[in-house]
Amino acid sequence: MTGSESAAAPAGRKPLVQLSGVDKHYGALHVLRAVDLTVAQGEVVVVIGPSGSGKSTLCRTINRLETIDGGSITLDGRQLPSEGRDLARLRADVGMVFQSFNLFAHKTVLENVTLGPVKVRGTSPAEARKRAQELLARVGVANQADKYPAQLSGGQQQRVAIARALAMEPKVMLFDEPTSALDPEMINEVLDVMTELARSGMTMIVVTHEMGFARRAADRVVFMADGQVLEDAEPEQFFTAPRHERARDFLSKILTH
Ligand SMILES: Nc1ncnc2c1ncn2[C@@H]1O[C@H](COP(=O)(O)OP(=O)(O)O)[C@@H](O)[C@H]1O
Ligand SMILES: [Mg+2]
Repeated sequence: MTGSESAAAPAGRKPLVQLSGVDKHYGALHVLRAVDLTVAQGEVVVVIGPSGSGKSTLCRTINRLETIDGGSITLDGRQLPSEGRDLARLRADVGMVFQSFNLFAHKTVLENVTLGPVKVRGTSPAEARKRAQELLARVGVANQADKYPAQLSGGQQQRVAIARALAMEPKVMLFDEPTSALDPEMINEVLDVMTELARSGMTMIVVTHEMGFARRAADRVVFMADGQVLEDAEPEQFFTAPRHERARDFLSKILTH
């Protein structure tokens, strides 16, 4: 391997998510500007940047909750489908965990985790329940299966949301500020689950300002500002010697309190 090879193309791993020249507008607002991003299978990429820089929009274009105006996005070598069954399948392949948990309030924890596999993947209810119990155990909430989301703490709800996404056996997991709505004492229990997931080889794109997690679990850190990827580097390089002025400025703000 030569020293000139980019951190964006780890040797021997196939690109799983690939954005090239992605543009997105909301009316006159240009929220994604020629974004290039390649995430290889098994890679963990942390996305950081100021509020309004386009991080959530980036996530939402990858599972096609938002359309794009230009460029292309491929998942596992295929263009994102625009509608119908193919789109449903894409959504199943791209697990998404939001800041606000988004569990079904009127369904039990177990039902939350079994619904997708049964409805979208065609898994038998018995198999889905068995798998759900395993996943709930993996995220540390095995004994909460029959409760409703409102009976759980925020940290427990977010771990159920992770189990629910994993139940679909996604190719990639997107996390959009998964700990931002949590009380401080619950942040680590969610980050621990995410760290275990990263170590297990899951491909992950994680929008977060938890820099400890980024240092511990990320292969790369992507810094966004004004809809552009300004920096794409290994965590050590990014945190010790960010190249871009905006990145230095941003880091000084979040690391000094
Ligand atoms: N549905 C929408 N309609 C109009 N503008 C939006 C919409 N969603 C986001 N925006 C704007 O797009 C920009 C990027 O937003 P977002 O992707 O949420 O940024 P971030 O997640 O980095 O805070 C912001 O200026 C935001 O106000
Ligand atoms: Mg956001």
